[in-house]
Amino acid sequence: MTSRLFGAALALLAASLLAGCERPPVDSVQRGYRGTGMELVYNPRTEAKVALANQPPPVTPPADSDAGPKARDLYKNVPLLGHLGVAEFTRFMAAMTEWVAPQEGCNYCHDPANMGDDKKYTKVVARRMIEMTQHINVDWKNHVAATGVTCYTCHRGKAVPLQVWFKTPPQKNGSNFIGDLAGQNQPMKMVGMSSLTVDPYSLYLLGDQTIGIGATTALPTGHVASILQTEQTYGLMMHMSDGLGVNCTFCHNTRNFKTWEGSPPQRTAAWHGIRMARDLNNAYLEPLTKSFPSNRLGPLGDVAKVNCATCHQGVYKPMYGAQIAKNYPELLEQTGAAAKVADGLPPPTAGPTRSVLFFGVGSSTLEGEQAKGLTQLISTLATQPKAKASISGYHSASGELAANQQLAKDRAVKVRDAIVAGGIAPARVALDKPLQAEANLSGEDPAARRVEVTVK
Ligand code: HEC
Ligand code: HEC
Ligand code: HEC
Ligand code: HEC
Repeated sequence: MTSRLFGAALALLAASLLAGCERPPVDSVQRGYRGTGMELVYNPRTEAKVALANQPPPVTPPADSDAGPKARDLYKNVPLLGHLGVAEFTRFMAAMTEWVAPQEGCNYCHDPANMGDDKKYTKVVARRMIEMTQHINVDWKNHVAATGVTCYTCHRGKAVPLQVWFKTPPQKNGSNFIGDLAGQNQPMKMVGMSSLTVDPYSLYLLGDQTIGIGATTALPTGHVASILQTEQTYGLMMHMSDGLGVNCTFCHNTRNFKTWEGSPPQRTAAWHGIRMARDLNNAYLEPLTKSFPSNRLGPLGDVAKVNCATCHQGVYKPMYGAQIAKNYPELLEQTGAAAKVADGLPPPTAGPTRSVLFFGVGSSTLEGEQAKGLTQLISTLATQPKAKASISGYHSASGELAANQQLAKDRAVKVRDAIVAGGIAPARVALDKPLQAEANLSGEDPAARRVEVTVK
């Protein structure tokens, strides 16, 4: 009798302990030679759920993009999509609505009384998102290949993508007896519920800390990764596996995790994926922080950011590689100011006491490579409190003089704003109109459209 009770209690205990585990059946696929341990383990039941969530959206038939008037002839505020025929423009607005705000409709981004104004932050963000999506499809082909991405890849019919991340507040020191936990022993989703240190995202998908474990030499002469760095690397690996719904063997040969020879080609794709996520977070999402209302920001006031799961959502290729983007030509090339800036500008001069930045034709937007030209100069100003910056804008000789002068001034103001945004007091940054602002006669020479900054 007692043993029966004991048996029942044991069964109950086992059931409660196993409740956290996946129920069988568990299946596996062999990905390498027999006996090499190269197999992927998966559970058909969880797989079915993930498959359901990764169905591609319907595609509306394309409109004849040359038919009818151009959007820019009908509307006033279409710097990105003005080149489209009005039929394709409208088709794309409808598609964006389905992808991002199907319940809310057009008014999620627009004031119906004035479609052209930019009062709603959602419209401002959406415009930058269009540029980001174009940038992914044009400049990150070594990751997204011909499959590409649309807004739906991340948004899946929701205004805020299901999988985003924020910085984690520093962990409280329990007691000094235990010391600094280094973020450990908090089972968090971001490291696959392991007890690894938290927040590998900030280190690797925003910052560019070296990914790696162990030393490359027998004696501690070469690079020696600390235990902490090793755990952080494993934290990222847990996220990548989780985000793609795969095992480590999807990208690694279990014989040697470190060497690239013998790693499946997917590891190379993943290498580019890490750099791409980092680029999107730094170049697009972080700079949008001020555009978002505070209820959209994280506990440390940072904007929602992208990781592998934002696009992949538990699958090795988003939506199993369904090629949706190719049906939306407006997402396959860079348009608007991004295209102009990318268009043959020389690299910026980026010195500690002098920077020269170049602008696209008719544009006063400081972005891409050009925006990086101020970093060194700003750190000089930050370390030398008496130093001042002098900014001069130049313009070309083609077109109307008054408009050109205004443009040169707008550009100089943009550069001043960027320096002030870098933490330098406005009083230390002066706009100095050059004696000869008109740079050359051709106007085609990109050097004519420049701003010079010198530290004095
Ligand atoms: C996710 C945000 C978003 C949604 C939803 C959206 N739009 Fe837009 N809309 C934009 C952006 C961004 C622009 C500016 C495009 C550019 O910069 O070229 C724009 C521009 C327009 C313009 C041009 C206005 C002008 O005068 O300059 C019209 C018209 C328009 N949209 C119609 C619609 C309609 C109709 C819908 C619903 C079917 C819709 N939009 C849904 C973001 C959105
Ligand atoms: C790589 C992933 C990704 C892609 C692709 C993407 N977005 Fe986003 N989007 C984000 C993230 C991350 C946010 C920030 C979430 C938030 O709003 O807090 C965001 C926010 C937004 C918001 C603000 C929503 C809100 O309510 O705060 C809009 C509008 C938006 N995106 C529109 C678009 C449109 C339109 C496209 C396609 C042209 C697009 N996005 C493509 C990741 C993406
Ligand atoms: C989606 C592909 C992918 C998956 C899945 C993956 N890794 Fe990695 N792993 C990489 C890439 C790419 C690098 C190199 C990153 C870099 O150098 O930027 C790497 C690096 C590593 C390193 C560091 C090697 C060194 O140079 O010191 C270790 C260790 C590692 N992975 C272990 C794992 C483990 C354990 C798992 C399973 C939990 C895993 N990885 C899952 C792609 C992957
Ligand atoms: C902006 C969306 C996006 C983000 C973010 C993203 N990926 Fe991808 N990834 C894709 C697309 C789209 C493909 C499909 C490309 C193709 O068809 O070859 C892909 C393909 C891959 C593949 C190749 C799969 C195969 O079967 O060949 C790997 C591996 C991968 N991604 C890993 C990652 C990792 C790791 C991260 C995060 C560090 C990441 N991705 C972030 C969109 C994304």
